[in-house]
Amino acid sequence: MDRIAITGGARLNGSIPVSGAKNSAIKLMAASLLTDEPLRLTNMPRLADTRFLGKLLSRLGVEVTESDGPDGQQTLLHAAEITSGFAPYDLVRQMRASFNVLGPLVARSGQAKVSLPGGCTIGARPVDLHLQALEALGAKIDLHEGYVYAQAPRGLKGAEIVFPMVSVGATEHAMLAAVLADGVSVIQNAACEPELVDLQECLNAMGAKVEGAGTSTITITGVARLNGATHAVIPDRIEMGTYAVAAAMAGGEVRLTNARPGLIDNLLLKLEEAGAGVEHTNDGCIIRRNGARLNAVDIETAPFPGFATDLQAQFMALMTTANGESRIRETIFENRFMHAPELMRLGADISVSGGEARVRGVEQLEGAEVMATDLRASVSLVIAGLVARGETTVSRIYHLDRGFERLEEKLGACGAQVRRIKGDGEPEL
Ligand code: UD1
Repeated sequence: MDRIAITGGARLNGSIPVSGAKNSAIKLMAASLLTDEPLRLTNMPRLADTRFLGKLLSRLGVEVTESDGPDGQQTLLHAAEITSGFAPYDLVRQMRASFNVLGPLVARSGQAKVSLPGGCTIGARPVDLHLQALEALGAKIDLHEGYVYAQAPRGLKGAEIVFPMVSVGATEHAMLAAVLADGVSVIQNAACEPELVDLQECLNAMGAKVEGAGTSTITITGVARLNGATHAVIPDRIEMGTYAVAAAMAGGEVRLTNARPGLIDNLLLKLEEAGAGVEHTNDGCIIRRNGARLNAVDIETAPFPGFATDLQAQFMALMTTANGESRIRETIFENRFMHAPELMRLGADISVSGGEARVRGVEQLEGAEVMATDLRASVSLVIAGLVARGETTVSRIYHLDRGFERLEEKLGACGAQVRRIKGDGEPEL
C-alpha cells in the first residue's frame, strides 16, 4: 500500500486553495435520492469517500457523473428511479456516513434495508439518535442480523424531534428525511455546524422548506416533492484548519484561498494565542510564523462553534514542539487520541489520561516510521513530519486519501518535501 514520506525542515511559503467540504459533500450527495430530477453539485472534492458514496448511490439507482466544468469539479446525480433500497454491510462499514442514505430512501420510496455501520477506531459511534429521529417521523424500524429495516408505506409524518445530545449526523439525517414528510417537523437540540447550513441551502434550492440551520432549532415544513438544483459545496473548514496548523508548525507564510473566514475562528484564535500571525482575507486567511517558537496553549473540543474535534489531532501535533505544556481535552469521541503514541514515536512527550492529553513541548522531533489510525490522525503525523529531523514515513494513508484532496501537491506547492511512495501491492499488517 502507498505511504507518504516527508523530509522535515522546509518552511511553507505560498498559497493553498481549499477544496469543497467532504463532510458536507457526502450528505448533499445523499440528498439526490430525494428527487427524480438531477442534482448538480459544484466545488466537489474528489476523495475516496465521495467516490465511495457515488458507488453506493449507483447501486441504489442514481446515475452519478463527474466532470470538470468552468465552475471547477462537479458531480451530477440523477435518481430518476430508486431501483434498490438495500445498502449492504460491505459498503456501509467502509464509510459510516453512507448510513445516511436510510432516511432519504424511506422518505422517497417508503422502505429501506441499510446495514448498521459497526464500530470505528475513534469510538463506538452508535446510530441510536438517527433511528430515534426516523421513528419520531413515523418510520417503523426493526433491527435484524446487523441490518436496519425501515418502513413508512404511507410516507413520513412531521414531528417534534428532541435530541438528548448534539449529533451532526443525526441532525442531518433527520433533516434529509423530514423534507418529504407530511406536516411540520421541529428538530430541537440540533447540531449547529456549518455543514447543516449548507445542507439547508441545498435542500431549499431543491424546493424544500427548511429554516433555522446553524441554530439549535430547525423547522422543516414538508413538501410533496423536490426538484433538481445546482448547489456549490461549502469550503472544507477542516482542510482549511489543517493547512493553517501546518503553516504555523513549519513556519513561513501561507495564504489559504477559496475558503470562508469565520468557519474556524476558534482555531485561529488559538493559533494567535500560541504566537502565530493570522490575517483574515476576503476568501480565507494568511498564516505566518517567522522563527520564534510557539507557546503552549490549551484546547477543549466542543460542538460548533467550539474547537472542532476534527482539528484536535493536528493541534496536538503543533503543540509537540511548542514552549511549555499544553492540555488537550477531547469531549466528543471517547477514543480519539490514537495519534498520541504515533507522535511519541517521533519524539513527542505526551501523556494521556481519560479524555485529556498533556503535551510537553520538545525542541526537536525526529523522523520515524509511523502509522495512520484514522483520517484526521493521519494528517497530524504529516504535520509533525514537516518539522521532524530527517524523514518521516506514514503508512496506511488510505485514511488520508478519504478526506484530503491532493495533499502532497498542495503542501509541495508551498515548498514542503512530501512525496507518495507507491506500494508493492502487499497488504499492510
Ligand atoms: C460528524 C463528522 C465528523 C466529526 C463529528 C463531530 C461527518 C461525515 N463526520 O460525525 O468528522 O468528527 O461530526 O463534529 O460529517 N452519537 C450517539 N448516537 C448517535 C449519533 C452520535 O451517541 O446516534 C455520539 C457519537 O458517538 C459521538 C457524538 O454523538 O460521541 C457526536 O457524534 P456526531 O456529531 O453524530 O458525529 P458524526 O455525525 O458521526
